Amino acid sequence: MSSKKVLLSGVKPTGRPHVGNYFGAMKQFVELQGKFENYIFVADLHALTTVQSREEMEENTVGVLLDYMAIGLDPKDVTIYKQSDVPQVAELTWIFSCLTTMPYLMRAHAFKDAEAKNKEINVGVFNYPLLMAADILLPGADVVPVGQDQKQHVEIARDTAEKFNRVFGETFKLPEAMILESVATVPGTDGRKMSKSYGNTIPLFATDEEIEKAVMSIVTDSGSDIPENVYAIHSLLRDKEELDAMYAANKGQYKKLKELLIEDLKTLITPMRERRQALEEDKSAVLEVLKAGGKVAQKRIEEKMEEVREKVGLKLY
Ligand code: AMP
Ligand code: TRP
Repeated sequence: MSSKKVLLSGVKPTGRPHVGNYFGAMKQFVELQGKFENYIFVADLHALTTVQSREEMEENTVGVLLDYMAIGLDPKDVTIYKQSDVPQVAELTWIFSCLTTMPYLMRAHAFKDAEAKNKEINVGVFNYPLLMAADILLPGADVVPVGQDQKQHVEIARDTAEKFNRVFGETFKLPEAMILESVATVPGTDGRKMSKSYGNTIPLFATDEEIEKAVMSIVTDSGSDIPENVYAIHSLLRDKEELDAMYAANKGQYKKLKELLIEDLKTLITPMRERRQALEEDKSAVLEVLKAGGKVAQKRIEEKMEEVREKVGLKLY
């Protein structure tokens, strides 16, 4: 057994990742590989709450896998798997559902937002935090690198672990969210949180034209020397000192500053996009990574699940 702490995180296969996903979460996965025992997965069961087409699910799942490899996750250092290859998480979600009260889950932000928008809410959306708790607790995660919007979910996982431990005896470690303050909420082209649902994203594997179009659409309020929204995105890519000098030298020149941001984004994105294209050429090799990772994760998770079944009284032989 490794003495390293366990790091775990996941991304839903709901479409193209954006720069917010990268700086808020995915970049940390790459930087921390080797320092932790790493489990990074594709949250396909979570995506089912919104993705309900076989083609889309398959394509997006392979997509997240390619994204992971293209940003530099190395299967030698990281167990990369898909959630549905460890169906134990769904089994544990049921057990958690029986320990958790409705009023408690009704306080979750994601549920409250959906309700406030009068959306039709499926039971999966309501139960989403418990599936996430199972993802986190079964492999015994110590740290969970995520963006700010997932903080409450990690807290729910902690609460759920405590509840289970209280009822059935010490079983689960209490996980900790790992959120980088500087990138906790990456803003989009309109200044609100970058999010697919707001249509304000810069895709992580954008083409040159897409980068140009997205940056040119960044909302600027005339009058100020520094276009705030341009600066906010640019600050992801450069040190503050360097950036301040750049913005001081081009005071009020919004077009020039946007061009400089485009250049920096291209420098970041082009190599990753090219790597992703190369990986796409050999999808079967990439899928082998997922398959092998699934076996490793499955073995670890099944061991813990056996302990859970025993503690709950479901394992008679
Ligand atoms: P998702 O695509 O919803 O599975 O999100 C993947 C990861 O990206 C999660 O850890 C989110 O917290 C993070 N994330 C999503 N949007 C942003 C954002 N605008 N700023 C920072 N992190 C984000
Ligand atoms: N809910 C997360 C998101 O929307 C994805 C996710 C599912 C996850 N299970 C997880 C993240 C476990 C961290 C740990 O971004």
